[in-house]
Amino acid sequence: MKLLDDSCTLSTKRLLLRPLRPDDAAPLFALFNNWNVVRFLSSPPWPYTANDAEWFVSQVIACSPELNEDVLAITKDGRFIGMIGVRLRKANALQRGPGPNIGYWIGEPFWGHGYMSETLGAFAQHLFKITDAETLYSGAFTENAASLRVQEKVGFVRDGETMLFSKPRGGDFPHVNTALPRTGFQAGGMAGGASAAANLRSRRKI
Ligand SMILES: CC(C)(COP(=O)(O)OP(=O)(O)OC[C@H]1O[C@@H](n2cnc3c(N)ncnc32)[C@H](O)[C@@H]1OP(=O)(O)O)[C@@H](O)C(=O)NCCC(=O)NCCS
Repeated sequence: MKLLDDSCTLSTKRLLLRPLRPDDAAPLFALFNNWNVVRFLSSPPWPYTANDAEWFVSQVIACSPELNEDVLAITKDGRFIGMIGVRLRKANALQRGPGPNIGYWIGEPFWGHGYMSETLGAFAQHLFKITDAETLYSGAFTENAASLRVQEKVGFVRDGETMLFSKPRGGDFPHVNTALPRTGFQAGGMAGGASAAANLRSRRKI
């Protein structure tokens, strides 16, 4: 099930999140072909090739059921700097209930400027606005302190642990599951609750 509209575009203070385009494959490859980025993710292959980047972008644009993920490019002053995506998942070892599960990355040259915190706050706010989800899910490998901090800043709380297979590393590693309740986000979320609470009747049932 698709959650984001094909034309979904979100503006934050410094960034623009927009649908992927075919010409994103080259900058995606340039930033993603980096072990410091890929080692913290569960599903990409390693080594990562330009063909992998082109395949991924084409699958997202085609809304491929194989990928089953809605993805936005994170851009700064027109430049592609990373991606954020969401999958609607059933309850599983990574999330205690059914609902949207968010994943993301940003290119290493752009780390440490608050860009992912800004992105995740706006993305979560949008998901709460367009769906009736009571909880958003995410998580990170336990050693990924920067990502867990980003989630904490947005209002995600720890919600369990599991071992998760890392395809690039070729083994199982400890993973922290996290959850962002709608109520917690409205009470303390950095993106603010007023507009997350709006449009009650137009929210998509998931
Ligand atoms: C994790 C990632 C998304 C963070 O992006 P970013 O734009 O640098 O994040 P932000 O600048 O918004 O916030 C990072 C926070 O983590 C903190 N941080 C960074 N490195 C840290 C570390 N080693 N230990 C603890 N905290 C750390 C920063 O100080 C900051 O917190 P603060 O604002 O309270 O000071 C980025 O590093 C990345 O893409 N990494 C590789 C892929 C990845 O891990 N994706 C997520 C998979 S779950």
